[in-house]
Amino acid sequence: MPQLLSLSRAARLVGVTRSKIQKKIQNGELSTFEGKLQVTELLRAYPETQIDDTHMLERVKQIKAAATFTSSREHESALPSQDVLIARLIKLGKELVEVKSAFNRQSELLDTINNKLAEFGDDSLHQWLSTEIQRSPKLEPAAQLLANDTVLRIIAAQVKVIPSGHDFFVEGKDSILEAALRAGLAVNYGCENGNCGACKARIVSGEVQTIRNHDYVFTDLEKQMNYQLLCSCTAITDLTIEAAEAHNPEDIPLQQVDTKVKKLEQLNEDLFLLRLQTPRTKTLRFLAGQYATLQFDNTEIQAFIASCPCDGRNLEFHLSCKFKKNLKLNQIVKLEAPHGDFVLQEDLKRPALFITDDKGFPPIKSLIEHVIASDNETINHLYWITNDETEPYQHNLCRSWVDALDDLKYTRTQTINQIVTDYPDLSNFEVYIAGSDDLISAAAKVLTNKYHIAKLRGEK
Ligand code: FES
Repeated sequence: MPQLLSLSRAARLVGVTRSKIQKKIQNGELSTFEGKLQVTELLRAYPETQIDDTHMLERVKQIKAAATFTSSREHESALPSQDVLIARLIKLGKELVEVKSAFNRQSELLDTINNKLAEFGDDSLHQWLSTEIQRSPKLEPAAQLLANDTVLRIIAAQVKVIPSGHDFFVEGKDSILEAALRAGLAVNYGCENGNCGACKARIVSGEVQTIRNHDYVFTDLEKQMNYQLLCSCTAITDLTIEAAEAHNPEDIPLQQVDTKVKKLEQLNEDLFLLRLQTPRTKTLRFLAGQYATLQFDNTEIQAFIASCPCDGRNLEFHLSCKFKKNLKLNQIVKLEAPHGDFVLQEDLKRPALFITDDKGFPPIKSLIEHVIASDNETINHLYWITNDETEPYQHNLCRSWVDALDDLKYTRTQTINQIVTDYPDLSNFEVYIAGSDDLISAAAKVLTNKYHIAKLRGEK
């Protein structure tokens, strides 16, 4: 039986993103077996892998951290709780006992064959087999890679979601829900503390452990079908779960949340950054690229959310400086969201172009950070259109994305015609445009294919 690894696990072991592995499979450089990778095949494609280098296990995490500048959701902790670690070690111990028993049976069989050959007088074969059996085993690269995989399985469990096929890792002290949101999945949830039942999902295979008591009461049928609350348990082993995910704006209800101002920071002459925090028990559900209505100090505005849904309770907005005087730290801002349909086409299978100017960057930032969090590196090119001599106000952030992601290009240009020169045929691209009316009308003149436009009612 070949040793098989899921694509996500393989990516972690060789220190690349999952989309890099997928590309190699598409290009025929790597072949799969039942949708998984053989360890030997992985080593053939990545012969330079430094098996003993434990830094490689952190590489994918670093890519995301460098690209988003955030540690995303709160209370991040490197290691699972003691209870979870013990449960995982017990589970792996049982597997080890099974492997050891199988190995012992094979050894006994080899000895028996060897003795039989001696009995039948086949000296040359008997001699050869004796030498092979006695050869001291050395640790092969494949075995070393599997040893690293075992360490990964103690630190993190992989969860596959059906029917979508998405997968993610549960790390540290995260609940399954926290890990899913951190990975950019739009799974259903509500209270996040075990009351509402909105996050319930069926555990199809694998073992979970409850990490917090919950008030929600399962029906007998739900118990029989092995339903669990994703906000109240974590994964002990790799899991397959059946869970609903939001795919379209209509899948998420309109929510009203009282948030608090946590940060006010000047971005440039015209814009400031507003960071709001939702209450611990009421995280806002939204899709990247959507906007919110904000009410504060007799003012009501609509603004795109500039952060990724994976940032949990922290919501970022880039607002006109004229509103700054109406806001102060810890002030309550009433928020109604989500609105709008400027969201990614499901799973972004095609390469994407993002076109923005200073006015449209917030939803583009949210989309790109979401793509990064969901390990879906199909972003091809980000264009920032500006006539200004000075750098765009989040120029350094865009450059850091380029440093972190091999496949992303970033161009600051004065005219949208540059895009048509670079890409005369855009028929294979998803094109997302967010910006001023001038940018949108310039795009309408030069782009002949269908594209997605960020539309907002009211103040940008
Ligand atoms: S989100 Fe309400 S019970 Fe889990």
